[in-house]
Amino acid sequence: MSRILITSALPYINGVKHLGNLVGSMLPADVHARFRRMQGHDVLFLCATDESGSTTEIAALQEGLSAEEFCAKWHDLQKGHYERFALSFDHFGRSSSAQNRKLTQAMAQTLWEHGFLEERSTKQVYSRADKRFLPDRFVIGTCPHCGYENARGDQCENCTRVLDPPDLINPRSAISGSTDLEIRESVHLFLRQAMFADKLRAWIGSKNDWPQLVTSIALKWLDEGLQDRGITRDVDWGVPVNAEHWGANPEGRKPNAEALKGKVFYVWFDAPIEYIGATWEWADARAQKQNRPRADNADWERWWRAPGADDVTYVQFMGKDNVPFHTVGFPVTLFGLNERLDAAGKFTNANEPKWKLVDRLKGFNWLNYYGGKFSTSQKRGVFVDTALEIQPADVWRWRLMANAPEGADSAFTWEDFQTGVNSDLANVLGNFVNRITRFGAARFDAKVPAGGAPGAAEEKLFTEIDQRLAALTAFHEQMEFRKAAAETRALWVAGNEYLQVAAPWTAIKTDLDAAAVGVRTGLNLCVLFARIAAPFMPATAGTILAAFGLGAEALAWPNRPAREILDALAHGKPFTPPDVLFKKIEDSDVSVWKERFGGEASQAEAEHAT
Ligand code: MF3
Ligand code: ZN
Repeated sequence: MSRILITSALPYINGVKHLGNLVGSMLPADVHARFRRMQGHDVLFLCATDESGSTTEIAALQEGLSAEEFCAKWHDLQKGHYERFALSFDHFGRSSSAQNRKLTQAMAQTLWEHGFLEERSTKQVYSRADKRFLPDRFVIGTCPHCGYENARGDQCENCTRVLDPPDLINPRSAISGSTDLEIRESVHLFLRQAMFADKLRAWIGSKNDWPQLVTSIALKWLDEGLQDRGITRDVDWGVPVNAEHWGANPEGRKPNAEALKGKVFYVWFDAPIEYIGATWEWADARAQKQNRPRADNADWERWWRAPGADDVTYVQFMGKDNVPFHTVGFPVTLFGLNERLDAAGKFTNANEPKWKLVDRLKGFNWLNYYGGKFSTSQKRGVFVDTALEIQPADVWRWRLMANAPEGADSAFTWEDFQTGVNSDLANVLGNFVNRITRFGAARFDAKVPAGGAPGAAEEKLFTEIDQRLAALTAFHEQMEFRKAAAETRALWVAGNEYLQVAAPWTAIKTDLDAAAVGVRTGLNLCVLFARIAAPFMPATAGTILAAFGLGAEALAWPNRPAREILDALAHGKPFTPPDVLFKKIEDSDVSVWKERFGGEASQAEAEHAT
């Protein structure tokens, strides 16, 4: 048993997330967290809303709310969505929390005092029409690298390169569309990332279990030459820069607090720090349940700082656009806390408890809706709130993970959804449980039969189950989700094939003992199938277990030989056949949903979607 810290990339506060967002980080993180808990590990699974920055400010304006009100409202809404999707966060925090504000400010101060921040006078885009500085994302123009015409000033979503607004060709304001822009001088803090290039390369090079998608994005960044990054902005909403409290850097200089007044930290600086902030929020919430006013620092630091956190394995989940910020941006923040520059400008140990960096990083490609992107503005695609109006969370969880955009982008289509749900869930798992529990109820008095001993059919089944369970466990441990789903299904199929051969409904006419073994093995298979389904489909797993009078205590990951697993239910134990587990999706459902959610769109339309 070990300690495993799992975080999902933090969803932006504004709006309802779509299924692509869900399957790109929060859902696989949940599946992994559930699997690791079932293995008996001490898991801390965290997420939060990502609230800072100009996008929030402007979205709030559009809803006629203050940024605080807007964030409080959307945090609660999102929290509700994820609860209904059965995401089992130990804490779902907020990047605007007092804890994260303290951490962000303290870390920036330390980075300054360690010599890794620099003040620079920068040129910012000012919109005369909008009477304000335009945040990076609100300058739109043509990408200088790939020519994409709707690139945002922070990052081109077409080629994923990170940009600065002045890089854009033909820039315009995203707020008003105005091209009446001017460049004004403004002092900002820069994180001296460039000097960490070798350390980053060595660190990334030591990660031989990262998916190739992740390593290649990270190395591409380093190969292109690492730039220092501005970590403050001329925006109102965010964590305020409090440089008036900071000490001198190794060269003996204090920051120009006057020039930095009224600025906030860049959202990509404080957001990953919220992984730590959320841990602190979690510890405070727990302390309050124990009637303590707040947590001791040690309560959350044991997940994050040496030596307490030395035995923690830290796993991060995210979509591919987030990879640079987690392999370069955030690691540099932590390197910069763990080391300092001496007066001669050389790296030296910071002599403070070290912060933990990510151990395993799982990145995802995009889930598209038919050929194109999900689109909020065009109402194309499925969003987490409306998805649950048409199918239960488990069905979505299963289908999304079985088709996760792991090795490449994948597409969501209603036709695939229908086929996948009907064949995997209704025909294979649902039918198995239904058939054997009903037959057992009718012919064996709804009690696990005692008679008979395993024969050739059972021996063959045991061998197959042993092999497949080992493979399934390995896929989950490697976070190969599509393979884990496929192997889960293969186990269900193996059960169906066994029942065809054992055929207790035929055997019962001539050989009661053979029928009893078949039914007993089948009923134990139901329990096994519930356990292996549980990371993907926790509610369904609970329903199946409940049919046997079993509760959450039965949700351990199976690690015994199949021979034992498949005779674990006490002989004579009563059970109750559950109701039909999965409803078949009809062609008529598909037509209705296509109409409601938008079906196939031309590639051109899809590309213009925002
Ligand atoms: N909000 C970002 C996105 O949705 C992810 C932030 S992850 C964090 O792309 F690490 F910065 F928190
Ligand atoms: Zn581009």
